[in-house]
Amino acid sequence: MKRIAVLTSGGDSPGMNAAIRAVVRTAIYNNIDIYGVKRGYSGLIHGEFIKMNLGSVADIIQRGGTILHTSRCQEFYTDEGREKAVAKLRANRIDGLVVIGGDGTFRGALELEKRQIPVIGIPGTIDNDIACTDLTIGFDTTVNTVVDAINKIRDTATSLERIFVIEVMGRDSGFITLAAGLAGGAESILIPEIPVDINTVVDNIERGIKRGKRHSIILVAEGIGDVRTIAQKITELSGLDTRLSILGYIQRGGTPTASDRILASQMGAEAVRLLLSGSSGKMVGIIGNKLESFDIELVITQNKQIDNNEYNLARMLSI
Ligand code: F6P
Repeated sequence: MKRIAVLTSGGDSPGMNAAIRAVVRTAIYNNIDIYGVKRGYSGLIHGEFIKMNLGSVADIIQRGGTILHTSRCQEFYTDEGREKAVAKLRANRIDGLVVIGGDGTFRGALELEKRQIPVIGIPGTIDNDIACTDLTIGFDTTVNTVVDAINKIRDTATSLERIFVIEVMGRDSGFITLAAGLAGGAESILIPEIPVDINTVVDNIERGIKRGKRHSIILVAEGIGDVRTIAQKITELSGLDTRLSILGYIQRGGTPTASDRILASQMGAEAVRLLLSGSSGKMVGIIGNKLESFDIELVITQNKQIDNNEYNLARMLSI
């Protein structure tokens, strides 16, 4: 293996740059030529390769987003698009590829693998919804962003004695919501994995008021459905002053936490080591603080489970 490439694909996440830096520098350390592919699979199809050097990744470890840019590439869902990508990889004499992203990115990686392109995946998504790894790059930063928002909203919620419904990202999963809800002391946590009757939420609010609580934070994962309807129902059933706050894309940006930078550095270096040792079709995961690698096939066919203990703890502590 003489020449490898790295790309980021799908939704960006804080720490992707730290992962790119680790891939680039580990490759150079091992005397391997390293190329960055711009705009994920779209850049593969269109041959957007740029030679990276040590300086290309200077001053990026602290930056959110991805210097390589990213895309959700529709053309790569077609056989024709995939064949074009493979042709570009071969024309540029790329011997192996590191892909950083989530579920869709890994499905794409397998298509390249099937076409004899050695590929290793690194889990980079704020959602943390990837099986075979305790953590994905970006999750910790996003949870901290949400907790910061909860702290701020709580100030005004207390002052005006209001109920706040806060919508949190996560696509179909509730990992961000659960972690931020536990860390931010949310009074109720609504996630797609564990259905809760809206009457129970209102009962909780009323019980809190009876024992002197002057406000409530209801954290709702976007995957639950229309958050406006939920806020409206709470207003109707409780008769209390309720406000809705949709956090939106601030959750995907910002400087990565130290934990995300460390995770990204470890995973980036490991991905290159795996490629150089002849591995392919694997994702780097972290289980119990230890790096491991798993077949991407397995990763994409498994559903990551919510930690019920974490959920029950959050419920118990919010009484
Ligand atoms: O997967 C990351 C994520 O931010 C999800 O939490 C969210 O549902 C989705 O991406 C939004 O994607 P887009 O910005 O492409 O609409």
